Amino acid sequence: MRTPMIAGNWKMNNGFAETRELIGELNRKFSCKIKVSIAIFPSFPYLYESSRLLDGKAIRLGAQNLHWETKGAFTGEVSSMMLRDVGCEYVIVGHSERRHIFKESDEQILLKLKAALQAGLHPILCVGETLAEREKGSMEQVVRAQLKGLSELTPEEITNLVLAYEPVWAIGTGKTASPEAAQNMHAFIRRWIRKQFGNYLSDKMIILYGGSVKPENIRELMDRPDIDGALVGGASLNADSFSAIIQGACETVKE
Ligand code: 13P
Repeated sequence: MRTPMIAGNWKMNNGFAETRELIGELNRKFSCKIKVSIAIFPSFPYLYESSRLLDGKAIRLGAQNLHWETKGAFTGEVSSMMLRDVGCEYVIVGHSERRHIFKESDEQILLKLKAALQAGLHPILCVGETLAEREKGSMEQVVRAQLKGLSELTPEEITNLVLAYEPVWAIGTGKTASPEAAQNMHAFIRRWIRKQFGNYLSDKMIILYGGSVKPENIRELMDRPDIDGALVGGASLNADSFSAIIQGACETVKE
């Protein structure tokens, strides 16, 4: 069975004081082993301190981006090795904000995926359609194109990957995809993985949903068979709402 995951993408939020406070509260609330894995994704400057605060605790650490080269003249960039060095286990790759605001291409995203995997990080690859693409009915085509690069990865690399379906129109808008619409896309993604890599890897693949996840909607989303957790933005910035999402997720886990 798949262990569900709740991931908090803090985006460009939280300074030193908030980072310390939020991690302190989460550590207190989730000090023992629980039924879902939890990871947080602070901004680069706070990763080291976060890693120190999370040392020996249940919550894992990840970064929001990386560069595909390991080192060199790439002013302003951060490599997979550096992320490993400061204690990251995960890294988000291909978030829609990176694709749309920073114009990252599928080719660049594939280079980042490969660099992350090479360094022993677990990348969380984000895919998802815009509102215009959904209205045109081309969401499967869009997501298929975003997944295409995965066919260059080995089965072993695929086992270290996490996927996140984040419809762009649901991010930060308060509009969640209906559990049924999300389930349909998750099932589509799992079928694509099955076709490329077979039953074993598709059954193991963790596919998170992201886009206006809140304590009120986590249960109905996670009750669907192909939704294995959530990549949470806004609601992960507050210890109470993030904890309520984690608790809601735990309640959907069958013994
Ligand atoms: P919101 O939960 O704020 O909609 O953000 C989702 C997201 O982009 C997570 O990566």
